[in-house]
Amino acid sequence: MTPPAPSSAPESSSGPLRPATRDDIPALARLWALAFPGERSAEDRAAALEDGGPWGGWENCWVAGPTERIDGGLRTLPLTVHLFGRPVPTLGVAAVAVAPHARRRGLGGAMCRAALRIGRARGDELAALHPFRADFYARLGFGLAGELHRYRLAPGALCVEGDASRVEHLADPFVVIPELHRVLVPGIHGGVSRSDRRWEALLGRRGQLAFGIRGDGGDWLGYLLGTVQKRGRGRGFEFHVAELAAGDAAARSAALAWLGEQRDAWASVVVDALPGERLHEALAHPSLPGTGKARELWFQSATILRGPMVRILHARALLARLGGDAGASVTLDDPEFPENRGRWVLDPEEGGARRDPSTPTPGVPLPVGVASTRLVEGQLPGFGGPREGFDPPPGREGFHLTDAF
Ligand SMILES: CC(C)(COP(=O)(O)OP(=O)(O)OC[C@H]1O[C@@H](n2cnc3c(N)ncnc32)[C@H](O)[C@@H]1OP(=O)(O)O)[C@@H](O)C(=O)NCCC(=O)NCCS
Repeated sequence: MTPPAPSSAPESSSGPLRPATRDDIPALARLWALAFPGERSAEDRAAALEDGGPWGGWENCWVAGPTERIDGGLRTLPLTVHLFGRPVPTLGVAAVAVAPHARRRGLGGAMCRAALRIGRARGDELAALHPFRADFYARLGFGLAGELHRYRLAPGALCVEGDASRVEHLADPFVVIPELHRVLVPGIHGGVSRSDRRWEALLGRRGQLAFGIRGDGGDWLGYLLGTVQKRGRGRGFEFHVAELAAGDAAARSAALAWLGEQRDAWASVVVDALPGERLHEALAHPSLPGTGKARELWFQSATILRGPMVRILHARALLARLGGDAGASVTLDDPEFPENRGRWVLDPEEGGARRDPSTPTPGVPLPVGVASTRLVEGQLPGFGGPREGFDPPPGREGFHLTDAF
């Protein structure tokens, strides 16, 4: 039997999408519960849509199709992502879902294209998402950005000089952490600003432990969030570091030294580090436990994690905001947004960036996805990159989108 065609929606600048209304809540909640099994129930989702969950309520949701039979939906989150110390208005594309009856006919792609237009029209300069499959979003101009090295280690293997006594368990993390994060986030390359509702969800997560790290003068200078998990068959406990934010190198060393001191409590610790942190240098033998030789006498160490994708939405505004060396140029190809195409030159005289009208444009154009990756990773010569006023602790300069949505 031929499956029913997706309901036809009037085409507009928002493509197949229309803003969700309160009436759409039950169907949208059911759609997401079906599309993301094993996560929250339809009832939980409906309640969060109604009164605003960690990512807001129904106001930032869009749907395709009529209320009686929704074909798809997504969220267009208004995020602020800090890049090279600058706050960038960013579209977070989240909860992309197409109903089983409407899949593999182009609706998912069309909804995402429409979301990009919605974001650009409201002033977002960058888009970010966590892909279910990278090539699906690469077609829409997204590029993978950032890299984390996941270490699973015996805490006793950490050899770090640091003052572990600076780390204290926080009975009430709400008093310390949100405000500390507000201060630290501009120095986190990829740090996402958080609302109170987001903090409630993060800090209120079942089993979440929170520790503060004091600086020299006794003020809070960093924090560590994580959960303890029981390992199977009497193998003890494992601590998973969810977030380690440190205002300076001493605070980070204090946290690592403190993890080392937990060796009698926790059999292992899982920690994700930026490649630039060179965490292997803090380990007597940086080998992944339980693995043998991987290649002759080489051994397995950290596992590489990849996650988010980013996309330049508004080339002129974003390049101007991030700045760089006057005269630096990049030639962009962007099939979705002709406004982004061409050779862009950093020019402080002309609002920060201008498009060079000379034709044909010199140089081989970079696909927008490749340019997006390189821009946020600081690999586009002359653009972005460490600047005055952006001073993360050594090794923490790498891009890391801190929040999953
Ligand atoms: C992921 C999801 C949103 C995709 O929705 P969709 O409407 O099927 O997406 P599209 O139709 O645009 O694209 C899916 C594929 O169908 C192909 N396709 C599109 N129209 C087609 C057509 N007329 N005939 C044949 N194939 C077609 C696309 O090219 C794409 O191919 P690919 O596998 O090579 O990438 C949907 O499967 C879903 O809801 N999954 C569960 C939730 C989820 O994982 N969401 C993603 C969160 S990041």
